[in-house]
Amino acid sequence: MGNRVGVVGAGYVGLTSAACLAHLGHHVTCADNDKSKVDGYLAGTIGIAEPGLPGLVRAGLAEERLTFTTELAALAESDAVLLCLPTPTGRRGTADLRAVESVLGALRDVLPPGCVLVTKSTVPVGTAARLPDLLGRTDIPVVSNPEFLREGHAVADFLGPSRVLIGAAPEHEDAADRVAGLYAGLDAPVVRSGAESAELAKYASNAFLAVKLSYVNTLAELCERVGADIGEVTRTMGLDDRIGSGFLAPGPGWGGSCLPKDTSALLGVAERVGVDLPLVRDAVSVNARQAASMLRKIRLAATGATDGSLSGARIGLLGLAFKAGTGDLRDSPALGIAAELASQEAVVTAYDPEVPAGPDWLSMAENPYQVADRADTVVILTEWRRFRELDWSRIAAVASGSVVVDTRNLLDDALLAGTGLRRIGVGQAKTA
Ligand code: UGA
Repeated sequence: MGNRVGVVGAGYVGLTSAACLAHLGHHVTCADNDKSKVDGYLAGTIGIAEPGLPGLVRAGLAEERLTFTTELAALAESDAVLLCLPTPTGRRGTADLRAVESVLGALRDVLPPGCVLVTKSTVPVGTAARLPDLLGRTDIPVVSNPEFLREGHAVADFLGPSRVLIGAAPEHEDAADRVAGLYAGLDAPVVRSGAESAELAKYASNAFLAVKLSYVNTLAELCERVGADIGEVTRTMGLDDRIGSGFLAPGPGWGGSCLPKDTSALLGVAERVGVDLPLVRDAVSVNARQAASMLRKIRLAATGATDGSLSGARIGLLGLAFKAGTGDLRDSPALGIAAELASQEAVVTAYDPEVPAGPDWLSMAENPYQVADRADTVVILTEWRRFRELDWSRIAAVASGSVVVDTRNLLDDALLAGTGLRRIGVGQAKTA
């Protein structure tokens, strides 16, 4: 028999955790204060584009192992309650814990004796130690169990994780065992640690990824100057398993709801305790520089000059989401670049298969060919594979200009051969 698990927060972390834990045989009640979301989920309507998630939610509902509620009181019989709440960047870059604090106040009289409170979404280092005070209960052990779910791969990451991380104070070993038991059905290494180590490991992992990407993006710039190709360089690097082949693709900069927030939060924590993290700080400033470097490429392509005026230039953007596989615009470098172009009075049109409506200042096209219509330059900002399958001759025929700025190195010269279009990539000396 599975455990009775409560999940608080039904965003992509909470909903994925709830549906996957139900799939693993637990009885899960997922609470969220957004009634329309809860009603939608109860009806099997999932507004989150996560492959596999709608099927798991519907199966959980049908097998009565998963339910949704707006009432925290429904968690009163839980063996474990997972907090999956947003922790946005607050003042001075640190994580804002207000959502967590308000839920804890409400859970005070709900959690039954013997229940374990689990922090699942990313929380600042030291939160597990503070939670009993915030909860106002000393009998409830707190265990840190950070998620490592990528948007667009969340179900696969939950059910096939590279590691399950469980951190707790030594006196809460039993509670940590019980949390480990929730994942008994998975074939993954379980890392046991202190709570602070687990909390820090999450930030450290995301910050490492940010450092890796910023390093690659600066190498890309160097490649352009010395006649090298970043793809050839990173292919060689990635075959060294100490480096690893993932997260080596250059682009317009890293974004999304996690890497920017977690790097700032890590810097905030370090600053508070008087530790300097120059590598992480530089990774953040390099990232801002990367967007500026893409803007330079776009300006040159659209106006023919490095200092040309973008006013009135027609720019068509392919992709707006922060990465392919999602429609998420949070901290999307693509959106930042669109905003900068618009602020310089370029006439910007965008198309993204997962973003039907953008911000009100941005004109959205219904298809990629509309984006290219009379465009001085077409810019690929999100690495949707389907952009490779476009009819590039048709794009060449409707565009005014003949340059495609490919900030993801998604296309290759062979794909554009015979179309009359020329591509400008990132870190490729021959296209720069
Ligand atoms: C990230 C981490 O990858 C997850 O492990 C973590 O659990 C999650 O944050 C979180 O903290 O919840 P996610 O934000 O979904 O996941 O996005 P990533 O796939 O990590 O991509 C982040 C950014 O890096 C995107 O803007 C992407 O386009 C960029 N990127 C990624 C590159 O520019 N090049 C690459 O090779 C890979």
